[in-house]
Amino acid sequence: MKQGFHALILAAGKGTRFKSDIIKVLHPLMGRTMIDGVLDSISRLRPDRIHLVVGYQKDRVREALLSRNIDFVEQKKQLGTAHAVMAARSRLRQDPDADLLIMNGDLPLIRTITLRPLLRQHRRQGNALTFMTSVMENPFGFGRIIDLENGHFRIVEEKDATPAQRKLKEANVGIYMFKIRDLLWALPKITNHNKKGEYYLTDTIEILSASGRRVAPCRTESDAEIIGVNDRSELARAVEILRGRKVTTLAQEGVTFYDPASTWVDFDIRIGRDTVIYPMVVLEGKTRIGERCVVYPGAHIMDARIGDSVRILTGSVLEEATVEDGCRVGPYARLRPGTVLREGACVGNFVEMKKTDFGPGSKAMHLSYVGDAEVGAKVNIGAGTITCNYDGVNKSKTRIDSGAFIGSGTQLVAPVKVGKNAYVGAGSTITKDVSPDALAVSRVPQSEKKGWARRKKRKQ
Ligand code: UD1
Ligand code: CA
Repeated sequence: MKQGFHALILAAGKGTRFKSDIIKVLHPLMGRTMIDGVLDSISRLRPDRIHLVVGYQKDRVREALLSRNIDFVEQKKQLGTAHAVMAARSRLRQDPDADLLIMNGDLPLIRTITLRPLLRQHRRQGNALTFMTSVMENPFGFGRIIDLENGHFRIVEEKDATPAQRKLKEANVGIYMFKIRDLLWALPKITNHNKKGEYYLTDTIEILSASGRRVAPCRTESDAEIIGVNDRSELARAVEILRGRKVTTLAQEGVTFYDPASTWVDFDIRIGRDTVIYPMVVLEGKTRIGERCVVYPGAHIMDARIGDSVRILTGSVLEEATVEDGCRVGPYARLRPGTVLREGACVGNFVEMKKTDFGPGSKAMHLSYVGDAEVGAKVNIGAGTITCNYDGVNKSKTRIDSGAFIGSGTQLVAPVKVGKNAYVGAGSTITKDVSPDALAVSRVPQSEKKGWARRKKRKQ
């Protein structure tokens, strides 16, 4: 029979060293919050239940995690990591024979494969407590492991350590596997007689091993994963590691990054094979990019869907837009939410689109604004064309049917329609619908005053 276990994540602390108005665990890391990273790694282990200890900004944390199936436990005052676990006592008492994975909420780099050996060792050895450790070059800030021999251990926090103890290199990672029954026995024995005046969860190690229960360290080699994120420089380091991981994964799947170090790729981005990403590209949110695409420098793409064989040229900004196969966008184009470029469409420099369905093979190559529009197939939008979609109160729609040709410098005052294969002469202000196959021109007829310039010069 498979032995059940619960997971308990500690996330009630403010994260003072972050100097932020937002609780530490809600800070973003490549498009996910820190706590999301922890929860994703733990979820893959399939615990019976995940409990999350919240306190500081508890409502904000709850709201951010609404879509997840989590048992929130409130710790009213943050009096230390053991005190945080105490807050969950009534929950734990309901399943005393199960195991409990306890993890600090500020370990966003931890991967599921790094947690598995801890669970395995704990079960194989039948321990009361198994705690993850790592030998570090510079363990400053971490609790140090003191091996008292004969299976007895103690953890001493940085602040409470003697100079000799500070020299110890084996550190406490902040991930533990307990037998719930033994944990519940040890918790009330913890005092706050230490430098910080806090109840340390790490005291359970000495308490349980001194009682003769089996306690063992589980040493991990994955140093990069166990950095706790306590301030913004550690956050930056965590981001660097995560980004490196993400880019490596994508590269292994067949994506070329010319300069991985200058490319920003959020956690949930997906990119097809043979796509090439130039330096200084930013890909955010749930963006999807197909196969054989090229994304040139300075493109900033957020939550967009991009098909195959698309070229996104320099400096283009896309947000919640859909770009179908074979399109070309930019340089310096802006596709705002609700824009759909149908297959093979081209949008050139300094063109802005919003809530526009832009038909297959249609083109808007220069300096245009197309908003709230429905554009058919193979339409040509001349330079400087503008849909006047807003009258100060309402937004209105423009429809341009297939094959239409809109001359340069046209204003289409919405609501308005241009029929199939119609022409609009350059410089027109179109306020009435244009019939299919017609030519509409609305500009003032040109007049000429012969010799006017010469006469003016003479007068001067
Ligand atoms: C802790 C460990 C230390 C270990 C390090 C690893 C203790 C006493 N020390 O130190 O041995 O090397 O993690 O990163 O456990 N929290 C609460 N309620 C509280 C206090 C803390 O929920 O009352 C939460 C915090 O939000 C945080 C986690 O517990 O997610 C760890 O707290 P933190 O203050 O960061 O502990 P460290 O000083 O890093
Ligand atoms: Ca910490």
